[in-house]
Amino acid sequence: MTAPFILPDGFRYLPGHFDRSAQSALIEAVIAAQACAPFWRPSMPRTGQPLSVMMTNFGPLGWVTDKAKGYRYEPRHPETGQPWPQIPAALLQLWRDFAAYPAPPEACLVNWYASDSRMGLHVDWDEEATDAAVISVSLGDKARFRIGGPQRGGKTGSLIVSSGDVVVLGGEARRCYHGVDRIYPGTSTLLPEAAFTGGGRINLTLRRVTLLELGQG
Ligand code: SIN
Ligand code: FE2
Repeated sequence: MTAPFILPDGFRYLPGHFDRSAQSALIEAVIAAQACAPFWRPSMPRTGQPLSVMMTNFGPLGWVTDKAKGYRYEPRHPETGQPWPQIPAALLQLWRDFAAYPAPPEACLVNWYASDSRMGLHVDWDEEATDAAVISVSLGDKARFRIGGPQRGGKTGSLIVSSGDVVVLGGEARRCYHGVDRIYPGTSTLLPEAAFTGGGRINLTLRRVTLLELGQG
């Protein structure tokens, strides 16, 4: 018998953390953000291949990627040139409750998965503050979230995340490969069709980017 996959230390799963009305309020914030920060389709460094998710951000910094400059954080939207909208208060509260970090998050990446989108296994490693947890919120359709260890190609395990669920990658889990195998289309009614053609799933990912300087924060 092969050994089972053991979840890394620092991985936390909070099913149903946000109730339906809190989920709707977060979706309303994503819709309101469209005015200055519309979803755009980013592309991979070097190859320029488009990602299967659409993206936008909240916060003083937003995660972006393109063919020329690759993965990085920027204070402005790559297409509108406008600053990203503020991180919603409910997400700042979530961070205070679960990040165990003495400074607020600086980036909230918003990923919109269409019914056929996925996210390959990766480690979030474009931040200086890799000592801070990454916290993510699932909204809309269910998805199969996969997590492994710190090495590519190692054993992995998966769970189905539903709307309102929160995943915390802290400690050891912060350095672990993770991704999204697939979306289960039509499993949620949260996303209004008028704003999200074809429905799908929204994932909000909170991150601290810069290092905390002594005496600050
Ligand atoms: C990510 O790791 O960037 C997203 C994870 C998710 O969509 O649940
Ligand atoms: Fe990630």
